Amino acid sequence: MSKRLKPVSGLHGTIQIPGDKSISHRAVMFGSIADGRTTVTGFLPGDDCLSTVDCFRKMGVSIEQKKDTVIIEGKGLKGLKEPMDILDAGNSGTTIRLMLGILANTPFHSCMTGDSSIAKRPMKRVTNPLREMGAAIEGRDQGNYVPLSIRGGQCKGIDYHSPVASAQVKSAILLAGLSAEGTTSVTEPFKSRDHTERMLGAFGCKVDVDGNTASINGGQGLTGTHIEVPGDISSAAFFLVAGSIIPNSEITLKKVGMNPTRTGIIDVLKEMGADITVSHIEGEDAEPYADLTVKTSRLNGIEISGSIIPRLIDEIPIIALAATQATGTTVIKDAAELKVKETNRIDTVVHELQKMGVEIEATSDGMIIKGTSSLKGAEVDSHGDHRIGMMLAVASCLGEGETTLLNSDAVSVSYPGFFGELEKLQNENIGV
Ligand code: S3P
Repeated sequence: MSKRLKPVSGLHGTIQIPGDKSISHRAVMFGSIADGRTTVTGFLPGDDCLSTVDCFRKMGVSIEQKKDTVIIEGKGLKGLKEPMDILDAGNSGTTIRLMLGILANTPFHSCMTGDSSIAKRPMKRVTNPLREMGAAIEGRDQGNYVPLSIRGGQCKGIDYHSPVASAQVKSAILLAGLSAEGTTSVTEPFKSRDHTERMLGAFGCKVDVDGNTASINGGQGLTGTHIEVPGDISSAAFFLVAGSIIPNSEITLKKVGMNPTRTGIIDVLKEMGADITVSHIEGEDAEPYADLTVKTSRLNGIEISGSIIPRLIDEIPIIALAATQATGTTVIKDAAELKVKETNRIDTVVHELQKMGVEIEATSDGMIIKGTSSLKGAEVDSHGDHRIGMMLAVASCLGEGETTLLNSDAVSVSYPGFFGELEKLQNENIGV
């Protein structure tokens, strides 16, 4: 599907940001392996999270999902049934990597696969430590690529030092540690998002966190609970940048997740000079959230590198767009992980923004963006990557002339209502 998009004269209004994707996945996964009922509100009914729901249904878990409410009848980790069919993660790296960790606890055989993007994404980062723990895993290139088959059951704890800061790797290993013998610890070079650690606590499990190390003792069970999912800051990011760089804009975003392991985008935009106000902070005992208001402002180029990278890894495509409108040059470093996301996001960001006339250059671990570019409408492509699609849609709001966005439907992976919200903010602008 393709979409024709026109420049806009400003964005105004208030929007409710849909549920956090990472938290929605975990709520369904942990609810499925918990004992008793789990209710989830604010769930993100995007394609990725629906893939997770489908996988657990295939293992016999009763899950009722209507829009953003989910009721899961958990039967405990031992209650999962051998699936009769292949578990399909679709486009979702979180589904496949975290589920491999869960399946390391189960004595049955299962097979996981995904779409053409997942088929290219490295799984060794998870399958190697899980094998070390005792899971039997087979797959293409010695277990690096789907389809993967797994038989778990008899794992032992490990003290794993991950070469990458990745919440997917950390979570898979901690989840495998649930029924492993002894203690399982994961240490990462920088702290990645900590939704697993927080949510396991809400399900009654004890996870110890010491700096960049998280540890869990085997033999712990989960008890069903209620999870309220805040809005996804990674989805809010598109409007934070749109509101900053599109002249004559003011947007309020309601109930946006403010977990400190995810708020790098706010820190960076503020450092660039963005006008963002945070109000009504709540939920600080579990996953904090707040309302955010952004107004148009002048931005300056900066360097983004080091420990902040995992706190904004998914926001780099839209930060790159913000940098095109900043005074001076922006340099993004230490972000080689972008190469193994839904697309190679260094290449797709650079290639697609170049089509719109931006002076941007790829480096081995990031990109260099020259500021104050005037964007020109062009034919651009999401390449099936939701975040590239949304970044290009925001870019089209600024472009001179019309932009055609190919593969625009990719946005439904994390933000099915994105184009409707963008249109609503344009209409609210009329008459301002
Ligand atoms: C996610 C972790 C991140 C992120 C992905 C979701 C998660 O991946 O890019 O969109 O839910 O754990 P890594 O932690 O592997 O970088």
